[in-house]
Amino acid sequence: MKTYLSDKNQTMTRRRVLAVFGGTGAIFLAGCGDRRGSPASLPVGSNPTSTPPTGARNGAAISTNTGSGTTLPIPPVLASRDQDGIKVFDLSLQQGQSHFLPDLTTATLGINGGYLGPTVRVNRGDAVMMNITNHIGESTTLHWHGLHVPAAMDGGPYQLIANNARWTPRFTIMQPAATLWYHPHTMGRTREQVLRGLAGMFIIDDNNPVAASFPNTYGVDDFPLILQDLSLSQSGQINTGGGSGRGGGARGGTTQTLVNGTVAPTLVTDQTRLRFRILNGSSQSFYALGFDDSRTFHQVATDGGLLPAAVPMTRLDIGPGERVEIVVDVTQTRGFTLQSFGSRRSNNDNNGNGRASVALLAITPTRSGAAQALPGKLAGIERLAVSAAGTTRELVLGGDNGAYTINGHMMSALSMPDMPGMADANNTFRVRLGDTELWNITNPTREFHAFHVHDVQFQILDRSARSLTPGEMGNKDTVVVAPGEKARIIMRFDDFADPTTPYMFHCHMLDHEDEGMMGQFVVVAAT
Ligand code: C2O
Ligand code: CU
Ligand code: CU
Repeated sequence: MKTYLSDKNQTMTRRRVLAVFGGTGAIFLAGCGDRRGSPASLPVGSNPTSTPPTGARNGAAISTNTGSGTTLPIPPVLASRDQDGIKVFDLSLQQGQSHFLPDLTTATLGINGGYLGPTVRVNRGDAVMMNITNHIGESTTLHWHGLHVPAAMDGGPYQLIANNARWTPRFTIMQPAATLWYHPHTMGRTREQVLRGLAGMFIIDDNNPVAASFPNTYGVDDFPLILQDLSLSQSGQINTGGGSGRGGGARGGTTQTLVNGTVAPTLVTDQTRLRFRILNGSSQSFYALGFDDSRTFHQVATDGGLLPAAVPMTRLDIGPGERVEIVVDVTQTRGFTLQSFGSRRSNNDNNGNGRASVALLAITPTRSGAAQALPGKLAGIERLAVSAAGTTRELVLGGDNGAYTINGHMMSALSMPDMPGMADANNTFRVRLGDTELWNITNPTREFHAFHVHDVQFQILDRSARSLTPGEMGNKDTVVVAPGEKARIIMRFDDFADPTTPYMFHCHMLDHEDEGMMGQFVVVAAT
């Protein structure tokens, strides 16, 4: 299938990105630069690197520049190899070391490198195979968040990859252009494995001609930004226990907000319009994104791809697991900063008074241009009608007593039934293939939750607490539900039936997910 972004472009892009890092194959770097406006402070000018340990593959060490601010690292686009018309992507999950704090070595995990992973980039219509090898020293899984694939290829808790084993799921990319991501989904260990570094971007391109009107050159005017709050102990190790994502400071350590694995990096650009594909890869943290000068930017996409129309705004909330794409014009050469303003959705600030603002990315333009109009219409999105829903389900979130549940049920490794007999398991929804379903997500707890469904993209019908914003009118796979709120979502389960392999739904706050705020459904052939 011929699409807007050709393979040739992708190869060139990869070369350019690797050149930026002077890179061979080892790919990702991490560390810290100067800190601006974060709760705990770090000396300036550490030497951030991230390397696989001795003996790991792809092993060259790469250092970023030091001094006042670290250059934004950009995960390279992973080249695929062709195998009989199938694009094969090699993903090696491995142990690594990073230097987030000066003079301290942090044990991390990475994919084809020491921390985080490369960007997987595919076209709608591609047949792909993921060749995943696990060398992290324990079992894991790799899930394609937001991707519409058969349950057995989904990388959920049932598709466990033992240490030193290989998993080679195959699937076809069936959905429109979107910014998705991939991460482990190991029962009870997702938070730890994700926060230690196992996460990467998964970008789909398609032939929607509107894409040509956006910044579209990866690493030049189109940048992935992976946001993560990381709690580090005094000895520099990642706090992997449950609980607050921002509690590190209280225990003598520090909490860092990382952007592509670095603290408050800098982007020097000669482009006059920038696109950011932003992932909230944190366990617990919500960000209220905006620029320090409160300039207007446009949200153009949400979890499942382009919005019906670009939405002008100055602030944008993003919860755990969600993605947004924004476009911002550079009309002056004055520097400006992408930051998270104190989020009113904070569950987990240290003092209960709302979290502090955090500088995320300092942008230094060397050129300016006139503001450019975006096309009036971005994507045609078929709104699903309530009347189309044959089944309505009630999902009630629970968590105020420290027991995180859905409908009073806490999913655990013990409650995961064996695969045969799966279809009879208690608390497994049975969805009929081709059906449209309406799910009422009720949150009677005192916390925000970020409800995520596998397999499909859904639409938010309405919320009990407020009306929907224009930025919520696209296809979503994760919805933030406020304390006391009910959100109604609607979705159609097409294409893949498998009565014995479940898909998951869960809160994407990884602590909550690990603690059991998860359930499962199977899609069965209609009779
Ligand atoms: Cu991003 Cu079930 O996960
Ligand atoms: Cu998912
Ligand atoms: Cu939750």
